Amino acid sequence: MQENLSQYLEVSKKIAHKAGAMVLKAQQKDINIKYKSRHNLVTKFDKKSEQLISRELLEAFPTHSILGEENMGNTTNDQKYKWIIDPIDGTTNFAHGHLYYCISIGLEINGEIMVGVVFAPAFGELFYAAKGLGAFLNDKKISVSKIKTLDESLLATGFNPGIPEILEENINHFVHFQKITDGIRRCGAAALDLCYTAAGRVDGFWEKGLKPWDMAAGKIIVEEAGGLITSLNGTPFNLYDIEVLASNGLIHKEMTGYFQSATP
Ligand code: IPD
Ligand code: CA
Ligand code: CA
Repeated sequence: MQENLSQYLEVSKKIAHKAGAMVLKAQQKDINIKYKSRHNLVTKFDKKSEQLISRELLEAFPTHSILGEENMGNTTNDQKYKWIIDPIDGTTNFAHGHLYYCISIGLEINGEIMVGVVFAPAFGELFYAAKGLGAFLNDKKISVSKIKTLDESLLATGFNPGIPEILEENINHFVHFQKITDGIRRCGAAALDLCYTAAGRVDGFWEKGLKPWDMAAGKIIVEEAGGLITSLNGTPFNLYDIEVLASNGLIHKEMTGYFQSATP
């Protein structure tokens, strides 16, 4: 059966917008910061956002499954359709009044991400894509950059605070790439980092220590923008693994070559 991807896209765009508006309005208020573990924050609005998104998705598609970070509406209905939600990606930023955070909603159909929507409410930027339909930012088509070498590249990465070994390892990667590129940005929201790669604002992004909701929507947005997405050493990307390397494709080999030699 031909899937109606445009319908899934339209519904999830509206919901991301609504959740984003709520979260943005809340930023100045009492957001009730709690620590899941040391340096790992959650706020009242991570939960409220996920409740809103899950509820509205299930209203529109009652038979679908939901996998959300905060477990606020997770269901295991029809596993063929799985919505993967990060209600606020970049919670640490959100909690500190830093504007780089987003709402991320991806739809997996039969194990493949087919639709992705990422909304950064503080910037009014809605990134979205569906398989075969292209990638867009606020309705304007986007594509990855044309930079051919690391030497002329701007990269992005992230650090998951919860995994000390990975942090140490990534500091080494950071130092390496900082020396051989125009620079590295470490802004604190993986889903948005993937969209920035898709829009050509950075040429590549890598991170280890991620979860499916950090990557689901961004994956299809990068691919539909003409980018490449794999594991760090270049093997096929697996959403349920913990790492990602996304790039414009042109610098990919240079990056995987480094990771192959740098990781045991
Ligand atoms: C985090 C952000 C951050 C990344 C962490 C993620 P959260 O997600 O994406 O950029 O470095 O690994 O856990 O906790 O803000 O949803
Ligand atoms: Ca996240
Ligand atoms: Ca989150």
